[in-house]
Amino acid sequence: MALAKRQILVTSALPYANGAIHIGHLVGYIQADIWVRFQRLRGHDVVYLCGDDAHGTPIMLRARQEKLAPEQFIARMNQEHQADFARFDIVFDSYYSTHSPENRVLCERFYERLRQGGHIAQRPVEQFFDPVENIFLPDRFIKGTCPACGAADQYGDSCDACGKHYAPTDLIDPRSVVSGATPRRKSSPHLFLQLEDFRDQLGGLIRGGMVDAAVANKLQEWFGDRLKDWDISRDAPFFGFPIPGQTEKYFYNWLDAPIGYLASLAHYLRAEPAEAEDFWRAPGRETYHFIGKDIIYFHALFWPAMLLGAGLPPPGKLCVHGHLTINGGKMSKSRGTFISAEQYARHLDPQALRYYFATRLTATPADIDLHFGDFIARVNSELVGKLANLISRAAGPLAKLLEGRSGAAAPAAGAMLADFRTAAPEIATDYENRNYAGVTRRICALADMANKYVEEQAPWSMVKTAPEAARSVWSTALECGRILTIYLKPILPRFAEKVEQCLGLGPLAWADVEQVLSPRRLAPFEHLAGRIEERKIEVMVRENQTPVAPAAVAGPVAATSDRPTSGGSWRAGNESPKSPLGPTGAPSAIAQAPVTAEPLAATCTIEQFNAVDLRVARVLSAEPVQASEKLMRLELDLGALGRRTVLAGIKKAYSAEQLVGRQVIVCANLAPRKMKFGVSDGMILAAGAGGTDLALLSVESNATPGQRVH
Ligand code: MSP
Ligand code: ZN
Repeated sequence: MALAKRQILVTSALPYANGAIHIGHLVGYIQADIWVRFQRLRGHDVVYLCGDDAHGTPIMLRARQEKLAPEQFIARMNQEHQADFARFDIVFDSYYSTHSPENRVLCERFYERLRQGGHIAQRPVEQFFDPVENIFLPDRFIKGTCPACGAADQYGDSCDACGKHYAPTDLIDPRSVVSGATPRRKSSPHLFLQLEDFRDQLGGLIRGGMVDAAVANKLQEWFGDRLKDWDISRDAPFFGFPIPGQTEKYFYNWLDAPIGYLASLAHYLRAEPAEAEDFWRAPGRETYHFIGKDIIYFHALFWPAMLLGAGLPPPGKLCVHGHLTINGGKMSKSRGTFISAEQYARHLDPQALRYYFATRLTATPADIDLHFGDFIARVNSELVGKLANLISRAAGPLAKLLEGRSGAAAPAAGAMLADFRTAAPEIATDYENRNYAGVTRRICALADMANKYVEEQAPWSMVKTAPEAARSVWSTALECGRILTIYLKPILPRFAEKVEQCLGLGPLAWADVEQVLSPRRLAPFEHLAGRIEERKIEVMVRENQTPVAPAAVAGPVAATSDRPTSGGSWRAGNESPKSPLGPTGAPSAIAQAPVTAEPLAATCTIEQFNAVDLRVARVLSAEPVQASEKLMRLELDLGALGRRTVLAGIKKAYSAEQLVGRQVIVCANLAPRKMKFGVSDGMILAAGAGGTDLALLSVESNATPGQRVH
């Protein structure tokens, strides 16, 4: 049955032009890229757009710092960003910039229609002004003492110590972060978009499926009171577009940023901006915006209001993802986990990150954790051990032992192949709903089936006596591999390309699941995916680490978890003001959301708990340390995580014989400890007071070394 062809427009959030793409950003771009590739594989028409968000005070100041004109600075960033996305196979149809002639025209058109519709108000705003730099200061460029609790060195929008939100003009002893000068109050007229005019329409959209339920609930909280007017103007000097009919006034960068989606579309169409609007409003067009949870407000309220006010259809769907944490904590410069895309790609395989993110991504805006131990284990056991292995274990011997020719699949494997094919609709539904964790789970289960089949058939033992029987087993495995490759193609485009090449097939499409792989001569087989070595991650993290006070890198918990701050800036590397209502001084709607309390000292957060990497390990050998009363030297097998030597104080309670072959639980991410008798690389768990009063925690034998303990 042929599917009706959908016309889909997909955007990813436009990254700020003031910093490099980091692996946190990549979560959302990889998520969207996978979705786009899936839709295309199914035969739908997709236009995938992005570009740089190039305007605003932070970017203007960064350019100044580098002694460049803002235009030069953003041109360089644009090149760098494009190179970073290419490294991860994130491919846009147009990667443009908000600082473009098309965007300027579009902003003016939007503004004019909003003004004519009576949705723009004007009134004076008193703001802090830096008398040295001669600029109005965004909230996060002002610091001072919290008016509520007296904590020093707090930002102009909220206090990290007590969580209180306030206007920057409430700060005690304020100073400019840019020049250090004491800012003075200065009033100027500002322009506002009256959001309340759109309340009913916005409410309808939110209830009507523009966002998933979890996000809708969050938005409902913001809907309680009157929707506050949104300040859309900024005073000169500012890097942005001048507002027509005003002097020395510019559009706030969050006004021109989402309009930048349309500018990128005009650039893709190589057409006048008005034609981009026509394309956007074409009947049947579906629009999807992929965004992080921190910019929901802008996309669920401001952007639809702007579109509606300008007579354009609102966005179809906001696909909201959570944020990336690393080893359970925020990305951190001091811990070396603030990893740029470029840096990752220099040390590790981008394909592995695409795969890993896929295994963690669902449709919810929950944060996702890149846990290095889990990353290594999953990539090595699933991507390499199950998926790549299935194809190489078939293509390899066919090339080596059977003239490089595949044959027909074994008739006896018909039921298994039927299972492979009937999985297609479920996998498609998971892709459609952004449940990539479900996709990879299903794919791995199928790969397990096929690998087990090959092991049971043992073709290597019959290849001499019954070569055709061996050929059909390996050909069956190849057919399974081909179908899995179709399922994996949105996540692993390079892997798929290599398989297509080896099998001499054109680009595989979703419908090819139903095809049968005819006997053929195989092309030389290319390595599909490599194991991740822990050492490479260590080198990358070390290279990236900026020195800090020793306390911050002590034990495993301290080294991998940040306490949630209350309210303030939670986002790693957030250099840009995100207060959605701008510097009006009015507390933002987001500010009214309940503030997370600090956990009690005696409890730990789930993130802290998860930061302790507990693993199943098998004792390979045990040897009492001669010169020590207590210590036993253990050689542990941690499966994909390799081997470890651990010195454990269990000599009085266990003999070497009792230990060998036993499965224990080890804390695998404890910093290696240098002891008198050598280095201990981990710690095994036991109950009791010590000495003879000690019982090892052990695991049943059906657990596998390297498995994570939850
Ligand atoms: N310029 C705005 C978006 C304008 S869209 C019209 C912006 N830029 S950003 O560079 O700060 O972020 C770009 C995207 O990356 C956003 O969707 C943001 O949520 C996402 N992420 C930034 N840091 C992130 C993590 N640590 N983890 C996951 N996504 C994160 O916001
Ligand atoms: Zn405070």
